[in-house]
Amino acid sequence: MKGIILAGGKATRLRPLTKITSKQLLPIYNKPMIFYPLNTLLTAGIKEILIIVAPDYAGHFLHLLGSGKDFGAKFTYEIQQSPRGLADAFIIGEDFMDEDSVTMVLGDNIFEDDLSEEIKSFKSGGRIFAKKVADPERSGVVKFDANNKAIKIVEKPKEWISDYAIPGLYVYDKRVCQFAKEVKPSDRGEIEITDLHNSYLEIGELDVRQIKGAWFDAGTFDSLLEANVFVSKHKRLSKI
Ligand code: G1P
Repeated sequence: MKGIILAGGKATRLRPLTKITSKQLLPIYNKPMIFYPLNTLLTAGIKEILIIVAPDYAGHFLHLLGSGKDFGAKFTYEIQQSPRGLADAFIIGEDFMDEDSVTMVLGDNIFEDDLSEEIKSFKSGGRIFAKKVADPERSGVVKFDANNKAIKIVEKPKEWISDYAIPGLYVYDKRVCQFAKEVKPSDRGEIEITDLHNSYLEIGELDVRQIKGAWFDAGTFDSLLEANVFVSKHKRLSKI
């Protein structure tokens, strides 16, 4: 199992904070944001990690995280020239993955739960997560049937379909690279991760697991503040 952290994008919603640095380097209490998703991968025993960054502050990530040696891991860096969408990570990361499966975590996603068993027990197909939230329209959303089987996945639905958001932690086998190349850009001009979930859903190989602990996508001022307050009260959330 390899790991990818996607820390690209321009984070225009966080201007002017992100005019001088990258969103994923902003503080969450006492650590840069990226430490939390990195901790999620390291806790699951993942040692080879590709960090995908935007061109502007690439050197800052290298300065902060280095080769990975300090974390008992090996880091590789790639630059995403423009924010083409989350699925692009599996095109950029195809050579890095080689024949292995991958866990991708978004650089602005913070999880309270230790999800290492969910990652370690993965064999093939796709495994994603679902979290009941008050504002599902901000995220990819999954609808379950009466037997808790995922039946529908929509990116930021305009009409309510379910309260279950899909957090930015995705476990996929190698076929994801091919699926990613087949995705057509959405109305917002991005190749959406939701289309990849649907590729696996259609072939009956998507496993969606509900998580109970807190989850933050720290991409707006309010969620950034919430994440800071939460972490300040749960100081042991990250071991690194
Ligand atoms: C992205 C994904 C969405 C996912 C969310 C999790 O949204 O497109 O499916 O639920 O990350 O943080 P974005 O950050 O692009 O708004």
